[in-house]
Amino acid sequence: MARFGRQKQRLAEAANGRSRWTERPLSSPHPFVTVALLVVALFQQSQFLGQIALAKTINGGGQKAVESSSKTTVAGGGFEDDSTVTPPATASAATTDPEIALAKPTTGGSLKEVESSSKPPPSTATQPETITAPATASTATSKNWWEKPQPLLLDWPDLPVRNDIHQYLELLKLKRGAEVGVQKGLLARKTLKTWKSCEEYVLIDLWGNEAGYIEPGPDTNAYKQAHLSNARRILKPYENITHFYVMRSTDAAKKLKKGSFDYVYIDARHDYCAVAEDIEHYWPTLRPGGIMAGHDFVDAQYAIDRLGPVEDWSKCEDGSHQPRAVRGAVEDFAKEHNLNIKTTQEGFPTWLIQKPY
Ligand SMILES: C[S@@+](CC[C@H](N)C(=O)[O-])C[C@H]1O[C@@H](n2cnc3c(N)ncnc32)[C@H](O)[C@@H]1O
Repeated sequence: MARFGRQKQRLAEAANGRSRWTERPLSSPHPFVTVALLVVALFQQSQFLGQIALAKTINGGGQKAVESSSKTTVAGGGFEDDSTVTPPATASAATTDPEIALAKPTTGGSLKEVESSSKPPPSTATQPETITAPATASTATSKNWWEKPQPLLLDWPDLPVRNDIHQYLELLKLKRGAEVGVQKGLLARKTLKTWKSCEEYVLIDLWGNEAGYIEPGPDTNAYKQAHLSNARRILKPYENITHFYVMRSTDAAKKLKKGSFDYVYIDARHDYCAVAEDIEHYWPTLRPGGIMAGHDFVDAQYAIDRLGPVEDWSKCEDGSHQPRAVRGAVEDFAKEHNLNIKTTQEGFPTWLIQKPY
């Protein structure tokens, strides 16, 4: 109250025209000085408070920036679980994780694939389903080729030599076969030794001289008859399933039931015309899905180069010249009927064609 009284008095003095600076004694400050000091003090305090406020804003903003940066990483990374959130620096370090860095080039997959494969397995409740479902599905669709209702020749494994064919005739449990051109019966014996499921094997050969056809060895009937005797003898163990047709191949074909054979092997004359004729005659005897095969999938020059001029397969019975020989006849037939040719991998390969189902 005393202070207010003094101020009142000073104001009254001022109102009477007296200067505060001159009239005021030196021991007590002039009111203007007091006010000025107060103003300065207030200004300094407000500056100090402003600095505090500014500092708070900067710190708060910085924190906010880090948070928003983390959020960006989360969204970009596609993670749904915040527990996997990592600040940008750590996130980029994650790509140099040795497991990922190693897995990336090895698998050739994307980083996403590596990440998902390195994820923990699903819960044990879903795990058996995940494992058993594809296994069951693949079992259902991956029957062995020979167990399928309509096995395909295309599915047969590679055949290094023609004797490898027989194991598949047996595996497929085929029943009826024919060999066109039997000679001494050597191939027939090999075939039947392995093909134990065979119930009928028809052996077709002229076993005699034929105009325009020369084989190595004496070109005499006696010699050809000796071949027949040899064939009968070595095939004696199979006499209950073998039938001999001593005649021209084309004549024998007419005696055979159409669509009844699982397997026919063509190995009589080797000129283009005769092979084409034999294929045409025996194709109808095959059942759908049956296999036709034959020896010497080569051309005439190839045979001459290796066997000598006596095996000239370029000449047809009618005198025409067909250098493509066996190979040409088989290729033309396959092309005409849009069929695939499989071959063994020998110097004189066997060819195989499947009759469509
Ligand atoms: C290469 S040999 C057969 C070899 C036999 N496939 C083997 O691998 O043991 C050819 C045979 O075909 C016979 N042949 C040739 N022309 C024939 C024809 N038009 N009809 C029937 N057989 C024929 C011959 O008599 C001869 O025995």
